[in-house]
Amino acid sequence: MDPALRSDRLLVRDWTVDDAEEAFAIYGSAEIAKWLAPAMQQVPDPIAMRSVLEAWIEDQPNLIPPSGHWALVRRADEVVVGGLALRLLPPHEEDVEIAWQIRPDEWGRGYATEGCRLLMRWAFTQDIDELFAVARTNNTRAIATARHIGMEWVGETTKYYGLRLQVFRIRPADLDSVPS
Ligand SMILES: CC(C)(COP(=O)(O)OP(=O)(O)OC[C@H]1O[C@@H](n2cnc3c(N)ncnc32)[C@H](O)[C@@H]1OP(=O)(O)O)[C@@H](O)C(=O)NCCC(=O)NCCS
Repeated sequence: MDPALRSDRLLVRDWTVDDAEEAFAIYGSAEIAKWLAPAMQQVPDPIAMRSVLEAWIEDQPNLIPPSGHWALVRRADEVVVGGLALRLLPPHEEDVEIAWQIRPDEWGRGYATEGCRLLMRWAFTQDIDELFAVARTNNTRAIATARHIGMEWVGETTKYYGLRLQVFRIRPADLDSVPS
C-alpha cells in the first residue's frame, strides 16, 4: 500500500521481512493464535515468522485489491502493534473479510478500532460495497471491536471455516456514521 494510511496515532503499511521480531509478538502469541485457527496457526519462532512475512509480501502484488496483509504501526515509536488483513472468505471466496490482531500487551488502547477504520475507508475505494468480520461466540474482545468500528451483527454461520462463527458486516454508508 503506497502511500501508507495514517491516523493521528497509527500507520497502516506494507509488511517488511525486518518486522519479523515484532510480528512474532503478535502471531507467536498463544493468546492470539487460539482465535485465528484454522485460518492461521501459531507461529513457532521468529525465523518461521520471517517466512510467513516473505510469503505475504510475495503474494501481495498478485492479489485482487483490496485483499492483503498489513502492519499496524504506532507512529510515536514505530512499534508494530498489530496486523490487519483483508481476504476472501472460504469456501466461495465472494465475501471479503477484515481481520485484526493486536499484540496482547497493547490491548485496550483502541488500536484495532482505529486501524480497522483506516483500512476500511481505503477498502471502500477499491470497488467493494461490503466487508465482513467473523468471530467465535466467546471472542468477546473481537466482537466488541466489530461493534466499535460500526459493524452490524448479521447472524451466525458454520459455512466459512466449519466453525460456529458470529458474522458482522459493514457497508460504506455505515462507515460514514462512525467517527474516523
Ligand atoms: C480483538 C483484539 C484486536 C481487540 O483488542 P482491543 O485492544 O481490545 O481492541 P481495541 O483496539 O478495539 O480497543 C478497545 C479498548 O480500548 C479502549 N481504549 C483506550 N483508549 C482508546 C482510544 N483512544 N480509542 C478507542 N478505544 C480506546 C476502549 O475503551 C476499549 O476498552 P475495553 O476493552 O475496556 O472496552 C485483540 O483482542 C486481539 O488481537 N485478539 C486476538 C485476535 C482476534 O481475535 N482478532 C479478531 C478476529 S480476526
